[in-house]
Amino acid sequence: MAQIGVFYGPEKGSVEKVAQKIAEIFGADRVELIPVKGCEASELARFDKLIFGVSTIGKTNWDTEHTANDWDVFATKLKDVNWKGKTTAIFGLGDQLTYPHHFGDAIGWVYERLEAQKANVVGFCSTEGYTFEESEGLRDGQFMGLPIDEDSQPDQTDVRISNWVNRLINEFGF
Ligand SMILES: Cc1cc2nc3c(=O)[nH]c(=O)nc-3n(C[C@H](O)[C@H](O)[C@H](O)COP(=O)(O)O)c2cc1C
Repeated sequence: MAQIGVFYGPEKGSVEKVAQKIAEIFGADRVELIPVKGCEASELARFDKLIFGVSTIGKTNWDTEHTANDWDVFATKLKDVNWKGKTTAIFGLGDQLTYPHHFGDAIGWVYERLEAQKANVVGFCSTEGYTFEESEGLRDGQFMGLPIDEDSQPDQTDVRISNWVNRLINEFGF
C-alpha cells in the first residue's frame, strides 16, 4: 500500500507535473497521487505522510475568488482529520519574475491552514537561488515548503525536487 499521499491541484498543469516527478523519485509504489478537487477527509486519513501541492494564482484571485477554488473547498476538510502522528510537507508553483511581490504566496496559505490544525509540517527551504521581493510563503526567512518556478527557472526544477525529496525521506522518518 502507498505510504505517502500527494494531494495536489489544479490538475493538468505544472502542479500535476511536479507531483508526478515527486512520485517518481520516491518510487511510484510508495506514492498515491490524489487531486484535491472532490477530495474528502477520509482520503487524507489514510496516510501518515502527506504532501500538498498548490499554485499561486494571483493575489487578487486568491483573496476574492476563494469559493470558486478547489483548494478552498479542500481546505475545509482539513479540520475533519486527526493530525496526530501525521507528517506533512508543501510544494508550491509560482513565477518569481512576473510576480516578485507575491512569489509562491500559496505556500503560506496552505501552511497557515495546516498550522491551524496543529499538523506537523516539514520540508522548509532556503531562499537561496530565488530572486523575488516578497512572499507570504516565508517564515523566519525560510519558505515553508518547496517553491518551484516552471515559468522563469525551469532548468532548476529537477534538482530542486530531487534535493527536497531526499531530505523528506529523512524528515518523514523512512
Ligand atoms: C492569472 C495568474 C496569476 C498568477 N499569480 C501568481 C502570483 O501571484 N505569484 C506567483 O508566484 N505566481 C503566480 N502565477 C504563476 C503560476 O503560479 C505558475 O504559472 C504555476 O506554474 C501555474 O501552475 P499550474 O500550471 O499547475 O496552474 C500566476 C499565474 C497566472 C496565470
